[in-house]
Amino acid sequence: MKIFIAKDYEELSTIAYGYIKDIVKSNPRAVLGLATGSTPLGIYRLMAEDCAQKISYKEIRTVNLDEYVGLSATHDQSYRYFMQTNLFNKIDIPLQNTFVPDGTGDPVAECRRYDALLDTLPRDIQLLGIGTNGHIAFNEPGTPFESRTHTVTLNQSTIDANARFFQSINEVPRRAITMGIKDIMAAKRLLLVATGTNKADAIAKALKGKSDPSCPASVLQQHNDVVIVLDQGAASKLVF
Ligand code: GLP
Repeated sequence: MKIFIAKDYEELSTIAYGYIKDIVKSNPRAVLGLATGSTPLGIYRLMAEDCAQKISYKEIRTVNLDEYVGLSATHDQSYRYFMQTNLFNKIDIPLQNTFVPDGTGDPVAECRRYDALLDTLPRDIQLLGIGTNGHIAFNEPGTPFESRTHTVTLNQSTIDANARFFQSINEVPRRAITMGIKDIMAAKRLLLVATGTNKADAIAKALKGKSDPSCPASVLQQHNDVVIVLDQGAASKLVF
């Protein structure tokens, strides 16, 4: 496991983006596992800037981690909308090469469809953020490490954390579809980014605590190619 502690958000984004850039340059048909949340935004800005100059995503495929149940692609808080406005519309990737779970329709059928899709798109890299309770994607504490795509009822702490993006906390969906931990672990490389002291406990538990489902991100200890990029706040409770 490689751990970088960046001096600021810009450096964190540059280090993390470097790993994605190397993959896209060496394999123009690579499959990128992408994530939502505010932490990856700097990486997506750098991808867009480089694409405007020299790097093409025309044959790249992307697979996202999760989506809220009930939000359509045009809802401004859906993860499909987030990906389109922050990345896909700013690079030359054809939209049909981008995959995000569909939050409308029958969630159970959508989970099976997504699993079948994941089986055809082995990820070269999976980008991850982390929740304050150690969740990855929307795999909340207690999720078995063997899980595949499933629907979840969000923990109150996740609803509270994500309420900042909605007009009121009542509008935050209570359910989501998420890629399971088994499929996250199937990516060749995992790249986790985290900022701020509010993530420090989760990071310490994930990287230095026992690897078990009480902290979903602690599963990363069981992967053989992991890169972690933190700012000083997120790293502040790590003891080496
Ligand atoms: C949501 C997403 C996660 C993300 C987390 C942290 O819960 N489902 O994939 O890691 O938010 O987001 P942020 O980067 O905004 O702290």
